[in-house]
Amino acid sequence: MTTPSTEAERLLLQNRAWAQLHALREPDFFNRLAQSQAPRFLWIGCSDSRVPAETITGAAPGEIFVHRNIANVVVHTDLNLLSVLVYAIEVLKVQHVIVCGHQGCGGVRAAMTDNDFGVLNMWLRNIKDIYAEHFEEIEALPGSTVREDRLVELNAQAQLMNLAKTAVIQRAWDRGEGPSLHAWVYHIGDGMLKEVQTMRPGTKLPSPWQLSFGPMSVRTESVIPEGQDTTKLDQRPR
Ligand code: CO
Repeated sequence: MTTPSTEAERLLLQNRAWAQLHALREPDFFNRLAQSQAPRFLWIGCSDSRVPAETITGAAPGEIFVHRNIANVVVHTDLNLLSVLVYAIEVLKVQHVIVCGHQGCGGVRAAMTDNDFGVLNMWLRNIKDIYAEHFEEIEALPGSTVREDRLVELNAQAQLMNLAKTAVIQRAWDRGEGPSLHAWVYHIGDGMLKEVQTMRPGTKLPSPWQLSFGPMSVRTESVIPEGQDTTKLDQRPR
C-alpha cells in the first residue's frame, strides 16, 4: 500500500521522465514554450478527472488555454471564468471557445436529484434551472442514463449561449474578430468528442441579449484599450 507522499512522489517522478523525453525529442521544446504562449483555443470543461482537454484532443502544451469547473458552467457573475475569458479573447486572441460537457457528469447527475449538497446547491442551481426548463422533454426519455445524457447536451448548449451573451464575446464580434463558439460532449464510453452546436463570429442574438457598442457603452469587463500593446495589461480608460 502506498502512502500519500509516495503517491504524490510518483507524479514528480513521472514529470521528470516526461520533461527529459520532451527535451530529447525536441531540444528547443521548453525554450520555445518559455518565450510566450499563443493558444488558438479556450477550453471550458468539467473538472472531472476523466476529461483532460489536452489528452483527449491530442494537443500539446501551449495549444489550449483551459478553465474547468464542476459541470462546465458559464456563470455571468463568476469573476474567475470572466477573467479567463477576457484574457483569452482580448490578450491571447483565441479563435475558438469550446464548452465541453461529458457523459456521466456527476454535477449534472447531482442536479437532477432532490438531494441537499450544502454549498454545492448554489452551483448546481445553474444546471437545475436548465433541467427545469426542459423538464418535460427530458422526463419523456427512457432510462436515467439517456435523461442524464440529454441534460449534458442541453447544458453544453445553454453554456454556449451564456458565452454568446457576454459583452466580451459580443465586443470581439463587433470588432469583426473571432472567436467561434463550440458546444461539445465527450463520450466517456468510447473516448469520442461529439459536436452539439457551433456559433460563428458575428451571430446576432435575439432581444434583449444583443448588445450595442456605441459611445455610451460602459466597459466593465474589459481592461484592454484598443490599439494598446496587449502583452501588458493596461487599465487606462479608452
Ligand atoms: Co462532469
